[in-house]
Amino acid sequence: MMMHLKTLLFSFLWIAVRSKPDAIVWGPGLNSRIVLPVRYFFIQFLDETGENITESLGEKAVSLTIDQEDGSRARIWSQILDRGDGSYIARYRLYQAYDNLVISLLYNKQHIADSPYKLKGRPLYQEKCYCPIKSKEKWSKALQCDKKYQQIDDDLALFKDIDMKEVTKTVLPKFDNPGAHSLCHYKIIDNKIYRKTHGEHVGFKMFTDAMFLSLARKVKLPDVEFFVNLGDWPLVDKRRYKNDLFPIFSWCGSDETADIIMPTYDITESTIEMMGRVSLDIFSTQANTGPNWEEKIEKGFWRGRDSRQERLDLVMMSRKHPDLINASLTNMFFFPKDEAKYGKIEKAISFFDFFQYKYQINIDGTVAAYRLPYLLAGNSVVLKQDSNYYEYFYHQLKPYEHYIPFKRDLSDLIEKLNWAKSHDSEKYSKLLKSKPEIEAGFELVSQPTDQDSQCHCKRKEKVIILYSC
Ligand SMILES: *[C@@H]1O[C@H](CO)[C@@H](O)[C@H](O)[C@H]1NC(C)=O
Ligand SMILES: *[C@@H]1O[C@H](CO)[C@@H](O)[C@H](O)[C@H]1NC(C)=O
Repeated sequence: MMMHLKTLLFSFLWIAVRSKPDAIVWGPGLNSRIVLPVRYFFIQFLDETGENITESLGEKAVSLTIDQEDGSRARIWSQILDRGDGSYIARYRLYQAYDNLVISLLYNKQHIADSPYKLKGRPLYQEKCYCPIKSKEKWSKALQCDKKYQQIDDDLALFKDIDMKEVTKTVLPKFDNPGAHSLCHYKIIDNKIYRKTHGEHVGFKMFTDAMFLSLARKVKLPDVEFFVNLGDWPLVDKRRYKNDLFPIFSWCGSDETADIIMPTYDITESTIEMMGRVSLDIFSTQANTGPNWEEKIEKGFWRGRDSRQERLDLVMMSRKHPDLINASLTNMFFFPKDEAKYGKIEKAISFFDFFQYKYQINIDGTVAAYRLPYLLAGNSVVLKQDSNYYEYFYHQLKPYEHYIPFKRDLSDLIEKLNWAKSHDSEKYSKLLKSKPEIEAGFELVSQPTDQDSQCHCKRKEKVIILYSC
C-alpha cells in the first residue's frame, strides 16, 4: 500500500514539474525493416534529473496508438505492458502490410521522447507475409543479431564437414525404435521446406515446421538439410559415438551429449503465437510479476508434475518446512500416488501467480525445465537445481547473477533459501529482470501462413509471384 501511495504522489509531483515527460524509448519495433511476429520496443521513464524512474507510473500511464500516416486506422493489435519498475513494453501485431505507420506514445496526453514515430515501410510486412529478403547478411544486420552465438558455435565446432548421405545412413538405424525416438529429416531447397518423419510420436514437428516456415518468409534460407530430434532427450552420446559424432538438432542439451541445441519448441511457439493463441510469453510474464518484492511471500515456490525423483523430494521437503517452501504436485504420472508422502495433487495455478512468491525453485523435469526463461523474466529470485541439462541460452547465465544454484540432490536447498532470505535487498529483484540475450534468441521464429490478410510483397522477383499471401 505504501508503495502505491508513494508512486502516486511521486507521479503527481512529477507531472507538476515537467512540461514534457522524459523517457527513453528504444527497440526493434521502431525499425520498419525488422519483421517479427510481434514487434516490440521499450519505454523507460526518467525523473527530472535524468535518472531512471524505478516505480510504476500506473498500468494505464502510457497510451499507444498506431495509425496510418493519413490518420486512417490500421489492422493492428497493440498493447502496453507495465513492468512495474518505471519501464514499459509496447508491442503490436500487424494483420496487414502497410506502407507507413505512425506510432504515438502519450503520457498524460503529451507525446514522450521522440513520439510520434514515423515508420516508412517498403512496406511494413506482417508476420505471415511470404517475402524473404535475399541477403541473409542484410536481414541479420537489420535484426541486430549478435555476431556470435556461443552455444551453436560450440556445438558446430565438433564437425568438420557433414555428408548428409552418410549421416542419414548412420543415424536412422541407430534410432530405429519408433516408439522411443522421433526424428524429422528436413530439407530446405529453394526456400521451400520439405521433411520426412521417422518414429511414432512426431506431433511436435508442428513447432519446427512453424519456425522454419516463418524464417523462410523473412529471409531466403540456404539450401540445407538436417535432422531434428522431436523428443525430449538429447541423443548423441559423446562417449558412445566418440569417434563418429553425427549432427542432430535438439531442444535440450546435456554435458554427456553432442546434440546441436536450438531454442525449445516452447519458446518458439510462445514467440510465434504471442498476442494470439498463447498468453504466456516472455513479455506478458514481465507485466504479470505479482506484488512488489516487499509484498511477496517469503518462501520458495514450486508446482509441477512428478517427472523426476527430486521433484518428489522437494514436495516432501516442503511438508517438513512449510514456513520455507510451498511445493505441490499438480499431476502424477511417473511415480505411484502416495498422498501420505506427497500430499494431495493440487490444481495447477496460473503461472503468473507463481510470482506471489519471492523464491522460484527450478527443478529439472524429464530434461531441463522449459519454464526457466519465464521464471527469469519475472521479478522473483530463481533458485536453480544443478543440472547437466541445458537449453540454448543456459551457458550465458551466471550463478548468483541470474539465479542461485543449489545441489542436484537438494541437500543445500534449505541453506540457499535461508541465504537468499538473509541477503534480501532491492538488488536482487533488480538483477533478475529480463535478459535481452534470451529475447534475441527467439526473435527469429514465427508462424504458419495467413489466409485473411493482404500482403503485397514488393521484394518479390517476377518469377515468384506464385505466392499470394
Ligand atoms: C536506466 O534504464 C535503462 C533502460 O532500462 C538501462 O539501460 C540503464 O542502465 C538504466 N540506468 C541506470 C543508471 O540504472
Ligand atoms: C501454497 O500456495 C498456494 C497457492 O499460492 C496457497 O493457496 C496455499 O495456501 C499455500 N500453502 C501454504 C501451506 O502456505
